[in-house]
Amino acid sequence: MLSLLLALTIAAPPSERLTYERKCLYCHSEEVAESKRLTLPQWRRVIDQMRKKAPLLISRSDAVLLTRYVTQTLRLTVATPARPVASPVVEVKTGPSPQKLTEEPESEAAEAPAPAIDPELEQQASALIQHRCSKCHALGRVYGRLDTLERSLTTLERMRLKTGSGITDDDVRVIEAYLRAQF
Ligand code: HEC
Ligand code: HEC
Repeated sequence: MLSLLLALTIAAPPSERLTYERKCLYCHSEEVAESKRLTLPQWRRVIDQMRKKAPLLISRSDAVLLTRYVTQTLRLTVATPARPVASPVVEVKTGPSPQKLTEEPESEAAEAPAPAIDPELEQQASALIQHRCSKCHALGRVYGRLDTLERSLTTLERMRLKTGSGITDDDVRVIEAYLRAQF
């Protein structure tokens, strides 16, 4: 009982793990995702590259969360022998962009992503895409192919017009706002 409580306290919030599994393990296994030990700026770059492959799968706020997850929870960071190991995440903050680094506070409660991110919209739109866009074909088609804004917008309209799409004007409004924020 006590150990269960402890485990619950210590473990990462389940939503982070779940997000990681759903997003980072969508295209490849954790063997690939966890194959590297990188600095924080390097992780930002890798995750940004991954996001560019599938911006409809990995939203901007996902990228912030997932960067935190791989560096702080999975601790896939490079070993830094010079200093004591109190806080490996702080150790790797050697990158040149101090402004960005401030978005990685120690406290887990601080859900303060970069500006222009609207997590509520992102969540709502992601859910909509999952429901509406999996009706006639696999979501892989959606996540893998839509990698520019223009293509996404024209495809959305084309899909809406398909017979029985079930995609409403309201859905389009939400998804479109989301798309415009992702590219
Ligand atoms: C849309 C598919 C897709 C998603 C989603 C995805 N990856 Fe990848 N990932 C790839 C491909 C393809 C490669 C092979 C190398 C390349 O093309 O960049 C790769 C390679 C990698 C590598 C090795 C990079 C290297 O330089 O060898 C790492 C680490 C990685 N991914 C981590 C992640 C993480 C973390 C996430 C979640 C944020 C993620 N991936 C999500 C497709 C994806
Ligand atoms: C009513 C069924 C239906 C729904 C709902 C639907 N699609 Fe499709 N989708 C299709 C069909 C049929 C094709 C293949 C023919 C075509 O490309 O028009 C397709 C093809 C695609 C393609 C591939 C086109 C390409 O450029 O290769 C993408 C991307 C896509 N859909 C995205 C979406 C998205 C995003 C949604 C949700 C907003 C969605 N689909 C909802 C029927 C649907």
